[in-house]
Amino acid sequence: MPSVEGAGARRAALQMLDSVLRRGQTLDAAAARARNLSPPDLGLAVAIAGEVLRRIPDLDALIDSATRQRLPDDSKARMVLRIALAQKIGLDTPDHALVATALPLVEGGPRRLVHGVLGTLLRRGVPVGDAPRLPANVEERWRSAWGEETVEAARRQIAKRPPLDLTFAEDAEARAYARDHNGVSLATNHVRVESSSVADLPGFGEGRWWVQDLAASLPARLIPRDAADVLDLCAAPGGKTMQLAAAGHRVTAVDSSASRLGRLRENLERTRLRAELVEADALKWKPSRSFDAILLDAPCSATGTFRRHPEVLYRARPKAIADNAALQARLLATASHWLKPRGVLVYSVCSLEPHEGEAVIEQFLAGDTDFSIDLPNDLPRFALPSDRGWVRVLPGLLEGEGGLDGFFMARLVRRP
Ligand SMILES: C[S@@+](CC[C@H](N)C(=O)[O-])C[C@H]1O[C@@H](n2cnc3c(N)ncnc32)[C@H](O)[C@@H]1O
Repeated sequence: MPSVEGAGARRAALQMLDSVLRRGQTLDAAAARARNLSPPDLGLAVAIAGEVLRRIPDLDALIDSATRQRLPDDSKARMVLRIALAQKIGLDTPDHALVATALPLVEGGPRRLVHGVLGTLLRRGVPVGDAPRLPANVEERWRSAWGEETVEAARRQIAKRPPLDLTFAEDAEARAYARDHNGVSLATNHVRVESSSVADLPGFGEGRWWVQDLAASLPARLIPRDAADVLDLCAAPGGKTMQLAAAGHRVTAVDSSASRLGRLRENLERTRLRAELVEADALKWKPSRSFDAILLDAPCSATGTFRRHPEVLYRARPKAIADNAALQARLLATASHWLKPRGVLVYSVCSLEPHEGEAVIEQFLAGDTDFSIDLPNDLPRFALPSDRGWVRVLPGLLEGEGGLDGFFMARLVRRP
């Protein structure tokens, strides 16, 4: 059978979705394994897989409405139909191309069924939902933690391409850049631009800025200016390390991943900023001194990054969240011994799960501890502390300006 143009990209998207949904990989990792695709085909495959991951519950409802035969959730037929419909909704692919590239994927299988369902839906018209539902278990969790409004904001956010946030070492440079390149500065050292390819933006190669969601830039802003000696724990790939170094702190950056530390080193070289790098498991490492401040940006389920990485919604199962929370509690308890009296400890996670944010801090403070919450008063206006003194960034925040990743951060101070 002659090969259909574009079929390779769709086949790769199918494989990526299998790796993500059945084997729990990230989409980036799955894409890195698709080695024999041309760059345009790889880009198309990732875009298709990403669009599917943003909309699975809505795509499934459409599919189920067009067939009496219930297709198993993990069947190839369902996945091929999701891939075809996602292209119709998100990528403006013409009908003939999405049918022609879908059918070879089910050759020797349920070709007629897929053809029939697709034909029915295309004739009926495929609605473009601008607030697609999230997986039911995620919606239940977030509804009970944050309420219906947050769930609705998250639905609207997952449908959109988020803007690109840049952090600058110098605030004056950020302001000039915003003026010259049609950007908006929503905080010191920050510029927001339309989503685009990073390499195409002026100033990247010269190291004038680095990409960092505005919410992700908040924890480092909680480190007191006068803290001379700062430990950045779980530091790679280094967005926060660069902020701390640019603010003039002496920074020690620890991470257990050699490859991620490699990216941190490259980032420091590109931006010509300095930090001492240590490859170590923080649970085993023994620092030779105590620090004025510690930033612990702990490993987590990362559900706050669902706009750019929609697969996190499928990877963050309850057990993974509980395991992360247990690791975070151990890291926090360990780091708490490395501070000078009156030292400041900032704990953050890019998670929308209260088990990984609020519960970890509550449990830590309830234990036998010398620490108390220190209300941050030096954050941008939009990041208001809760009445408990920590900062919780939810999907509805700054929605009109392009939104933010979900985040949790708390600043603790060690009593003298
Ligand atoms: C949320 S990421 C850090 C992001 C980073 N702070 C930034 O701003 O770019 C969490 C990091 O924790 C590291 N990590 C996980 N477990 C660790 C451990 N036991 N000791 C040290 N680092 C660890 C991971 O390698 C990962 O780089």
